[in-house]
Amino acid sequence: MTRFVVLAASVAALGGLLFGYDTGVISGAILFVAKGFALSTATQEFVVSVVLIGCVLGAAGAGWLADRYGRKRTLLCAGVVFGLGALGSAFAPNVELLVAARFVVGIAIGISSVVSPLYISEVAPARYRGGLVSLYQFAITIGILGAFLVDYAFSASGAWRPMLGLALVPSVALVVGMLVMPESPRYLFKIGRRERASAELGRIYGDAESARVEETTIEAGLQLKEAGFEAFRLPDFRWALFIGVALAVLQQVTGINTVIYYGPHIFTMAGYGTAGAAILATAAVGVVNVVMTLVAIFFSDGLGRKPLLYIGCAGMAVALLSLAGAFAFSGTGAGLGPIALVSLMLYVGCFAFSLGPIVWVLIAEIYPLRSRGLGMSVATLANWGANFVVSQFFLTMVEKFGASATFSIYAVLCIVTLVFVARFVPETKRQSLERIRVRA
Ligand code: BGC
Repeated sequence: MTRFVVLAASVAALGGLLFGYDTGVISGAILFVAKGFALSTATQEFVVSVVLIGCVLGAAGAGWLADRYGRKRTLLCAGVVFGLGALGSAFAPNVELLVAARFVVGIAIGISSVVSPLYISEVAPARYRGGLVSLYQFAITIGILGAFLVDYAFSASGAWRPMLGLALVPSVALVVGMLVMPESPRYLFKIGRRERASAELGRIYGDAESARVEETTIEAGLQLKEAGFEAFRLPDFRWALFIGVALAVLQQVTGINTVIYYGPHIFTMAGYGTAGAAILATAAVGVVNVVMTLVAIFFSDGLGRKPLLYIGCAGMAVALLSLAGAFAFSGTGAGLGPIALVSLMLYVGCFAFSLGPIVWVLIAEIYPLRSRGLGMSVATLANWGANFVVSQFFLTMVEKFGASATFSIYAVLCIVTLVFVARFVPETKRQSLERIRVRA
């Protein structure tokens, strides 16, 4: 693999870094935004959740944009929108404009969450594709941790504007970086720009023979006659869509963002006395999230996607059951803190090498080339929709059913995911994108 491919994947992964940063940063910033603008609870909730509405819209349009204008231009456009959103948020004179700016940020997140993994999967040589797309998830986790640290650093002064505005830095890096990165050769073949496509393949592979083999495979893949919304009528596409949407939803309904968005809250329920201690425990979980993603980067191509999903889902279920048990048997909260910390570390650690990266890897792989943008858009849209529902209702669920029952429900859904993977998900490691056939 050439350095050039790693560079292209890393630049596109900046979209993931912004995804992680912008979804994570608001949890700390909102405390000070609420004070600054004297916001009601309902308005605060809206400032937080409007991003997810933007994400849904961005993801819905992203596939069409990527198929029509290309992967590179769409990512460039996402970078510009990220930057405008960051500036708008940092300088918003009132809450209305802040809401508007956060909505714009959401659109950029939605677009990049479709197009970054799509682009990486298309420039990556088959035998490194799992690791390179996992790089995108790695960037998400770094963004989340970075957001947390930035929030922490500015929390003493309560300066929320720089918290939100700092996203400008990776936005500019994304735009500048994408300007010099190549367009996806698969996209170029698709629109008939064969010469440029061959040249890009040469740069990617570094040797003419491998580039030529890849070219033949891509061209063969293009013989398939499907495109546009007609794809929805094809049984194979629909089956791939079923698998992609189910995986995207399962990634969310197994509860990851209850920990990412409400970490300090969970630790407080588990008996952590001070906000500082709860925040620190959440940071530790954030570090585990980053570090364990490396496992997917290094093993998703050798060991394969499915074994990582099996081990990860089983580990997540065990961790959630231990957390549920601890909440059930420890009425006072005493002794619960350490069990909660270990369980949540195990849970997030297992997610970090399985459902986190591998879902993005798979939903970028399983669709036929002509409808890949569309397929990814629909699956990612479902991911954001499920994220919205789970994070909106988490606190209500804890209130209604209790923490123990809530975490048990997520544990059961981890087992459901494991069974789903065993029954329906194809192993895609080391196969050229065109060879991956998902048949109804
Ligand atoms: C998920 C996000 C989540 C993040 C946590 C991603 O794969 O899509 O919803 O916040 O992982 O690391």
